[in-house]
Amino acid sequence: MAKPRPYVVIVSEVSVDGKLTLYRGASSKELMTLMDEEAYRYLHEIRAKVDGIMVGCETVRTDNPSLTVRYVKGKNPVRIIPCSTANLPLDSNVLNTKEAKTWIITTKRAPKERVERIRERGAEVLTVGEDLVDFDELMPLLYERGIKSLMVEGGASINWELVKRGYVDEIRLIHLPVIVGGENVPTLVGGEGFKKLKKLLKLSLRSHFVKGKHLISEWYVVR
Ligand SMILES: NC(=O)c1ccc[n+]([C@@H]2O[C@H](COP(=O)([O-])OP(=O)(O)OC[C@H]3O[C@@H](n4cnc5c(N)ncnc54)[C@H](OP(=O)(O)O)[C@@H]3O)[C@@H](O)[C@H]2O)c1
Repeated sequence: MAKPRPYVVIVSEVSVDGKLTLYRGASSKELMTLMDEEAYRYLHEIRAKVDGIMVGCETVRTDNPSLTVRYVKGKNPVRIIPCSTANLPLDSNVLNTKEAKTWIITTKRAPKERVERIRERGAEVLTVGEDLVDFDELMPLLYERGIKSLMVEGGASINWELVKRGYVDEIRLIHLPVIVGGENVPTLVGGEGFKKLKKLLKLSLRSHFVKGKHLISEWYVVR
């Protein structure tokens, strides 16, 4: 029997053409300036309800998010960052551990000195995997450590990693009423893609409504 793992919800702001940011390497914070307060409240209400929130290390490096609850009242979830060589700036907002707990998930490749510096900032560092973070090992470990619900806020690579392994239960999208365009601009899910019709991740519409000027769509993953 499969080991228990957290209930996983991907939550993302996407343009109508599914883009996460303005161009590859750009912080999505600029695109997010289009989001109104009602949409931020929707996002932060979800943050306040989950045990953990995950973003990939590249999102920490480009966006420097805080991943805390600010637009509504509520507790901050544990911030969980897969980062195979612990390569994140020591002044990253997620390393402000006075605000919320942070777990940096590294691999055996992470240099000891870097791990030490991060621990000095008050974050926990867990080694899970050899080369990249091993999500098959990580998911049951998170559950064991009390993360029963996990919100994933991207980016495209981490979303793919979870989608391809069948670890996603729901997807909730805040649609930005714009088209970004561009061949190589990251979209909701990156990676190599499923390629075959019968392998696609199938979804069923759970709900759709409007918050401010944004369509919100919520999808269940069909098993
Ligand atoms: N619109 C939105 O809601 C939203 C949300 C988040 C991000 N974004 C945007 O998305 C972009 C970043 O997305 P991204 O796809 O480049 O990066 P990402 O998914 O944020 O992070 C990927 C990184 O995670 C680390 N990692 C560790 N283990 C991994 C594994 N098993 N599989 C995959 N990655 C693993 C790797 O960095 P190491 O090699 O250092 O381990 C990898 O480069 C940025 O432009 C950001 O602004 C938008």
